[in-house]
Amino acid sequence: MLDVIRQRRSVRSFVKNAVEKEKLNEVLKAAMFAPTAKHLRPWEFIVVTNETKKIELSKATPYASFAKDAPLIIVICYDINKGNRFKEDCSIAAENIYLEAVNQGLGTCFVQIADGTEADAGNPEEYVKKMLDIPENYRVQCLMPLGYPAKPSAPHKDEEFDLKKVHYERF
Ligand SMILES: Cc1cc2nc3c(=O)[nH]c(=O)nc-3n(C[C@H](O)[C@H](O)[C@H](O)COP(=O)(O)O)c2cc1C
Repeated sequence: MLDVIRQRRSVRSFVKNAVEKEKLNEVLKAAMFAPTAKHLRPWEFIVVTNETKKIELSKATPYASFAKDAPLIIVICYDINKGNRFKEDCSIAAENIYLEAVNQGLGTCFVQIADGTEADAGNPEEYVKKMLDIPENYRVQCLMPLGYPAKPSAPHKDEEFDLKKVHYERF
């Protein structure tokens, strides 16, 4: 397991090849096996492959421009009526997506949806909701472009295990 965690990097360039449905489903399965507060499973996953929509999504924030080049984008959103720990729930699902992507030879990246652009008049979340017909009672957590990496990424290094960040009994 630590090997997959070490290899997991944020991937921002992709080859053109489509992601096979079986692999996509394994990645989505990993997301839905994630723990959620009170087991409420507040998330929904929108898979976007349409070229125009991908281009529009990549304009949602200043840090999403590469998303259009992925064969698909998973948009994670959550029902605000299902508990109150949805951000945590969705973030854990996102990490499971990251990890199963590695396991499938794929790559992805967590793209936040907080910083706006001119295209979305400073409100990226509303922009994404409108574009994808997301109901009123849902919010958007992040975009996760998914595809085969264009180049290998360096795995995390042992030096990143920093014992100075570990505290026992008190800070
Ligand atoms: C909450 C969160 C928000 C992030 N937002 C973005 C983003 O908007 N665009 C992007 O390219 N990367 C984004 N990232 C990816 C980080 O830049 C990346 O995880 C970090 O640089 C460490 O690199 P690694 O994922 O390869 O280990 C985000 C990651 C997290 C956890």
